[in-house]
Amino acid sequence: MMRHLLSIEDLDRVGMERILARAASFAEVSGREIKKVPTLRGRRVINLFYEASTRTRSSFEIAAKTLSADVTNVVSSGSSVDKGESLKDTVQTLSAYDPAAIVIRHPHAGAAALVAGWTPAAVVNAGDGKHEHPTQALLDCFTLQRRLGSLEGRSIWIVGDVEHSRVARSNILAFTKMGADVTVAGPPTLIPRGIETLGCAVRYTLDDLRDADVVYALRMQNERMRTSYVPSLREYVAHYQVNGRRLHPRQVLMHPGPVNRGVELAAEVIDSPQAVIGQQVAAGVVVRMAVLYECLAGRSAPQPALSAPVPA
Ligand code: CP
Repeated sequence: MMRHLLSIEDLDRVGMERILARAASFAEVSGREIKKVPTLRGRRVINLFYEASTRTRSSFEIAAKTLSADVTNVVSSGSSVDKGESLKDTVQTLSAYDPAAIVIRHPHAGAAALVAGWTPAAVVNAGDGKHEHPTQALLDCFTLQRRLGSLEGRSIWIVGDVEHSRVARSNILAFTKMGADVTVAGPPTLIPRGIETLGCAVRYTLDDLRDADVVYALRMQNERMRTSYVPSLREYVAHYQVNGRRLHPRQVLMHPGPVNRGVELAAEVIDSPQAVIGQQVAAGVVVRMAVLYECLAGRSAPQPALSAPVPA
């Protein structure tokens, strides 16, 4: 049993396979008309988001509610963070509600690990800066297992803005642990130096993209293009866009979302049957149910005794 999920580095292959198997068992619940099991009844889960999110926040909320937990969403905008409250004070304030888990997304690498030191709750990293997004990696492994049967020996190319991508880092670690051969590809300015130490190969062109069984495109961070990581977006599209010309129909196409249509992916491949982007989103619910289960089930539920007074 895990106490927190902060990084894919916290998991070995056995632990990952246990979570993925549990997610598969929860898929049956997601298929029912009444999508509810009592596993976490009476437990509190707080989603604490300091960055924008559609998929991760909604799927953690649905996952916790499907497990019958009581969920509270706190977003930094409109909270007392706007008045200058620190992350530590915010976490300690929310911990007074005795949550079983805090799910945290934050723009700074290492924020989730800091939060784990400030609260007795289990902490799940929902993305911390450029560092990691471990539940994204797990849901991507789940999606690929469903599509391909196994990741063992599969060639997976992660294409695009690796430099700014927490998804790339978590997925290199997760895919290689599951036995895949991972290659990252993109312009040299968007591939971090030394990334090979994570166990992947590096390419600076898409000339051999057809060697891949799976093409995993990353979001092109348009807002960062002003800082000249590539000469222009048009130049980037010409050399690195995954489109119908570069993608073979036998290849599986993935993207974590949100997609910049017409930038990293052409419309014809986003809407093709080889794209599993919708399946990735759906997998987010059952995989996050499995992660909450892994962190919380078996841990003692809140005691009905008097709670400690809240400091003024
Ligand atoms: N993939 C992902 O993390 O999407 P959101 O930013 O919408 O949560």
